[in-house]
Amino acid sequence: MNLSSKDIERIRNDFPILNRKVNGSDLVYLDNAATSQTPKQVIDCIVDYYSNYNANIHRGVHSLSQQATEAFEVARKKVQQHFNIAHPEEVIFTSGTTHSINAVASGYAKLLNPGDELIVSALEHHSNIVPWQMACEQSGASLKVIPMDASGALDLKAYESLLSDRTQLVFCNHVSNALGVINPIETIIEKAHAVGAAVLIDGAQAAPHIKADLQALDVDFYTVSAHKLCGPTGIGMLYGKKERLEALPPYQGGGEMIATVSFEKTTYAGLPHKFEAGTPNIAGGIAFGAALDYMNSIGFERIAAYEKQLLELATEKLSLIEGVEIYGTSEEKTAVLSFNIKGLHPYDIGSILDQMGIAVRTGHHCAQPIMDFYQIPGTVRASFSFYNTFDEVDRLIAGVIKAKEMLS
Ligand code: ALA
Repeated sequence: MNLSSKDIERIRNDFPILNRKVNGSDLVYLDNAATSQTPKQVIDCIVDYYSNYNANIHRGVHSLSQQATEAFEVARKKVQQHFNIAHPEEVIFTSGTTHSINAVASGYAKLLNPGDELIVSALEHHSNIVPWQMACEQSGASLKVIPMDASGALDLKAYESLLSDRTQLVFCNHVSNALGVINPIETIIEKAHAVGAAVLIDGAQAAPHIKADLQALDVDFYTVSAHKLCGPTGIGMLYGKKERLEALPPYQGGGEMIATVSFEKTTYAGLPHKFEAGTPNIAGGIAFGAALDYMNSIGFERIAAYEKQLLELATEKLSLIEGVEIYGTSEEKTAVLSFNIKGLHPYDIGSILDQMGIAVRTGHHCAQPIMDFYQIPGTVRASFSFYNTFDEVDRLIAGVIKAKEMLS
């Protein structure tokens, strides 16, 4: 059943921040692609941890440590189940997508050889470009780029022509953070596997909207940041197929990731500990599990269907404003609206919207190659979540019209 306005009202009551005013107006929070807001169920979970069983995990025999360890491992199983992952040890807790990608890239830097090739899509966030450039510098491998077209779609023919037996790894986001377009990752994975290459999919922008089935996708690595799906900052997931993670050198050395240590030789722990050196974000991991529970209690199909309605309404109304150009026009999109108004700077529009209590992101969205493609300095990006309303879409449109009048 679709989310009704009564459902949305009830859901909004779970988010304390949505009641606040910004610059004298009710907050309209449309920067969900940067970070989502946090429901009280997740906030309560963090407070409960620090109030009742704060302890280090996997170390103490004492009761608090055991309770914390159990809660952390239960959270790992929730993540495993949510993404339909075969084994819990294939879920590595990281600080977020950037950490996850760096962990894989730094391992590959040691495995790659001169002449090896990596393929990246033109739609990537800097966090899925720069770590690979660093890996190429260290290893002598080279980076090839799948081009995009004006609608924000990737050129799959060009992709096919880039693939060869030299290709070691392909990486691509599931959803573009700057444009919201959903990439054809099934095809990307299948074609990469046909030449024996592994695939890393950055799922940071997809996870709040799409429940990915990682076994069905047969993807080698998948990354997620919990703060984009109602969880806290500083916690995320690196999924890797067991055999891929086993072959990958560890990213960081330290406590918890070892089997034995002596000054002559250290051996590493098994998965997932090999990639979880040091004390992890324990409260964050447990709250990540609570965030998934919360979103699953609403249901991802209902979330996606409702957000689609918000996007369609916003796109339709925004397109009626003269001088508006929307970037990312392909059919398959999550609820992200990236746009400019002819002759106006995105930063100025964003600042005026902020004066009206409307939060959007402006700038290059950590995706400068996309901005270069369109030859623009940046965009205004409104990104919607399931707790946004049709009234808020109207406030955005009224705000954009007002900003245009003030700046023209
Ligand atoms: N990657 C986040 C965004 O797109 C921060 O805004």
